[in-house]
Amino acid sequence: MTLWFMTGNPGKVAEATEHFSHYGIEVKQFEFEAIEPQADDLETVALAKLEQAIPHLPDPEDMLLVEDAGLFIGPLNGFPGVYSANALETIGNHGVLRLLEHLQSEDPIMDSRIRDAEFVAVAALYYKGQTIVAEGICPGRISHSEQGENGFGFDPIFIPCDLDESGNALERGAIGAVSTHGKAFGAISLAEKQLYSHRRRALAGILAALDSLE
Ligand code: IMP
Repeated sequence: MTLWFMTGNPGKVAEATEHFSHYGIEVKQFEFEAIEPQADDLETVALAKLEQAIPHLPDPEDMLLVEDAGLFIGPLNGFPGVYSANALETIGNHGVLRLLEHLQSEDPIMDSRIRDAEFVAVAALYYKGQTIVAEGICPGRISHSEQGENGFGFDPIFIPCDLDESGNALERGAIGAVSTHGKAFGAISLAEKQLYSHRRRALAGILAALDSLE
């Protein structure tokens, strides 16, 4: 089965390929320039892009996936959120770190709470006339400096919350069975990022909904 992933971001394709390969679904990148609507929620953006791309699907029996993500930083009232791509292009990771420079505490738990952030991904899948939407969230915090060369986008400045044995995220500052030990996504492997990833969670939601369609 082929799933066309509409994105210009090879990092996202790598994550989706890793995820769907376990289910016998082949992921192919679908390069299509959709007009992005001005909206303040990710779902509206994802669905608008999906709608524009559906008529261009190579085979109507194939699946088409759009996924829109953003980094929502607590002390910045959710900025950059839906403006994440724009914020990366303009101020970059360095600029985000500067905006949070004044927020630091000697106490690690307090430090992770005052620098709280979360990644949110909304995935929308079109398959044989039906559309499925799922959301994935990864809570965490913003690091004090850029870390590593892996991943893309905000990965060098985002440290995910630890997870319990079942893979559920714990509160900020709590020590869990699964931990990056203070490393940002940029400093861990793709396989390790997948344990925490907002995108992986959204795609898992899509797969679960797809199962109930068939
Ligand atoms: P998009 O609109 O879904 O492509 O994402 C908006 C911005 O957030 C882009 O500039 C991405 O690089 C960034 N972004 C989305 N997901 C991630 C992620 O998993 N890690 C780091 N940055 C991300």
